[in-house]
Amino acid sequence: MRILGIETSCDETSVAVLDGDGRVLSNIVSSQLAAHAPYGGVVPEIAARAHLENLPVTFEQALSEAQTGVEGIDVVAATAGPGLIGALLVGLSAAKALAFARGVPLVGVNHLEGHLFSAFLRGRDEAALPVETPFHGLVVSGGHAEFVRVEADRIVPIARTRDDAPGEAFDKVARRAGLGYPGGPVVDRIATRGDGNRYPLPIGRAGDGSLDFSFSGLKTAMLRELGKRGVDGRPLDPALLDSEMADLLASFQRAIVTALVDRVESVHRDEGIRMLALSGGVAANSELRRTLSAWGASRRVPVLLPAREFTTDNAAMIAFAGLLRYRGNGVRAPEEAAARSRWPLGS
Ligand code: KG4
Ligand code: ZN
Repeated sequence: MRILGIETSCDETSVAVLDGDGRVLSNIVSSQLAAHAPYGGVVPEIAARAHLENLPVTFEQALSEAQTGVEGIDVVAATAGPGLIGALLVGLSAAKALAFARGVPLVGVNHLEGHLFSAFLRGRDEAALPVETPFHGLVVSGGHAEFVRVEADRIVPIARTRDDAPGEAFDKVARRAGLGYPGGPVVDRIATRGDGNRYPLPIGRAGDGSLDFSFSGLKTAMLRELGKRGVDGRPLDPALLDSEMADLLASFQRAIVTALVDRVESVHRDEGIRMLALSGGVAANSELRRTLSAWGASRRVPVLLPAREFTTDNAAMIAFAGLLRYRGNGVRAPEEAAARSRWPLGS
């Protein structure tokens, strides 16, 4: 069997085809970065229009790379939320039309659930790893920080961010530093030549004893540090940054990684983690990957890291989450799959 997935929740238009074992036969991602770059962030109306323009080509490419036509598709999955409503509607409407026309089931997928299971994907030549519950999932992206426990029949939220998402902190700090968008990858690269222990920065905690994250204090402290150094958003060449700036950015990255790994450690102490799956755009961060793997090795907890191509928004993860829902009978009539801008994990 083959499942086709469509992702249009934010600024990537993506279509993927997976087989019934979760092999990724194709995963085409068309980025709108250039369209939004002049505005320094994602403009919802531009995103919706760009999805409309990009989707047909992306769709054709995904089918042709998977060496199939629409007649070879048995199930359709599309992101139904959370995300930009106009953007979601483009992908979801296309998915509905395809499902109706072909008479096949449609699964409306929660974007965060897509991220959550993305670490189980192995790519083109290998079946996805079996999803065995319970496991813990940490989804860290530009819009979210969600720590959950995944059980056989439900997803239990444990912690989320009270304010900024970690990717959002990377993006805002990088923008003020004149390093462009998205901020995560540039800071990641610069941090490799900086000393992350040089500047003690506030580490994100909600501060009321709860497990929730908070990254706005850290972001504000960083913006202040940049201001003190006369850095005001004018474009800087990452290759020419002095060692003080490299140390500052490395310290900022260290603070985010420490906040995340500390939280993993407390949850492990409280309830025991059998296996941890990391995901989301920030899961591409090399220090986070390294530090969490080392944590797992020291605690004898397997830590599953997603392949980098499945960290940022992509349709392969949506198709895979759709496949799991389909197998678990989470399919409704196509007209019931409604787009929603808000859709917390586990609800
Ligand atoms: O998952 P994603 O594509 O979109 C959302 O659903 O939010 O995540 C994008 C986020 C951006 O904030 C980007 O800066 C961040 O992921 N990101 C990284 C890295 N690569 C992407 N953050 C830290 N280190 C990276 N290497
Ligand atoms: Zn995402």
